[in-house]
Amino acid sequence: MATIVIAETLAASGVETLKAAGHTVHDLSGQSRDAIAAALGGADALIVRSQVKVDAALIAAGPRLRIIGRAGVGIDNIDAVAAERAGILVVNAPDGNTVAAAEHTFALLLALARHVTSGDRSVRDGTWARATLKGFELRGRRLGIVGLGRIGRAVAARATAFGMLLLGSDPMVSPSDAASFGVRLLPLDLLLRESDVVTLHTPAVGTSPLIGAAELAKMQPHAVLINVARGSLVDERALAAALSSGGIAGAAIDVYATEPPKDSPLLAAPNTVLTPHLGAQTSDAQIAVAREVAERICDFFRTT
Ligand code: MLT
Repeated sequence: MATIVIAETLAASGVETLKAAGHTVHDLSGQSRDAIAAALGGADALIVRSQVKVDAALIAAGPRLRIIGRAGVGIDNIDAVAAERAGILVVNAPDGNTVAAAEHTFALLLALARHVTSGDRSVRDGTWARATLKGFELRGRRLGIVGLGRIGRAVAARATAFGMLLLGSDPMVSPSDAASFGVRLLPLDLLLRESDVVTLHTPAVGTSPLIGAAELAKMQPHAVLINVARGSLVDERALAAALSSGGIAGAAIDVYATEPPKDSPLLAAPNTVLTPHLGAQTSDAQIAVAREVAERICDFFRTT
């Protein structure tokens, strides 16, 4: 039976699955990186979400490690090369967060479109800014979905119910596949030019942001940007500049280059709705991803 270190909060469904399979679980969620590294000395498996950076140094602290599980989609906070070099398998939970991330996209979009956060402030501070908080409807607006994987497709399905017109960009998807769920496939630069709303649903790619000053300059002045995917996809300085200059009309952001984003220029940028990486933060999604990653780890120890 394996010894498993949990480095970030994992729903009880996951912990119970691990324990029911006879594994020993050490819950270090909320503890320091040093404490996690010390516990890895005797661990066969490590489970993280998105905040603990599993770099080469942390991997080296676990000489017995055989598997690292990420309770979420993607593995971008894990140094997969260092893990492979050390002979460690990396697994994730690609399904459980899909609906939560898609629904949060609409929470942000509607909050932006209908001035929900500034309206809330104006009631509390007595300014009752009803006259100035004129929003826009989603119906008939063009939604540009960048990344047509599970979450992008779940966003497309929900956008259809709002009567939005769907554009998409994804090098891995064919025009006929995109058309089968109502999306007109375009190259990214055309999508940026044609969309009223651009929403990002791709993994972190490459070393430079997907959306920088040049890409923002292609967007229309009335357009808005939504990012519930990865902070590294957007150049925050360029986005703050585009918002301040009226290059685009608004942005709703859930993920940041550094989390929490203490020094991000987005904190002072106008027409923004900011949330603290809440995309997967529903009880439903957390139960699902915890169980998903725990099952993958149990399968691994059962079969190897
Ligand atoms: C994900 O990648 O699924 C989420 O960002 C994970 C998380 O919320 O920690």
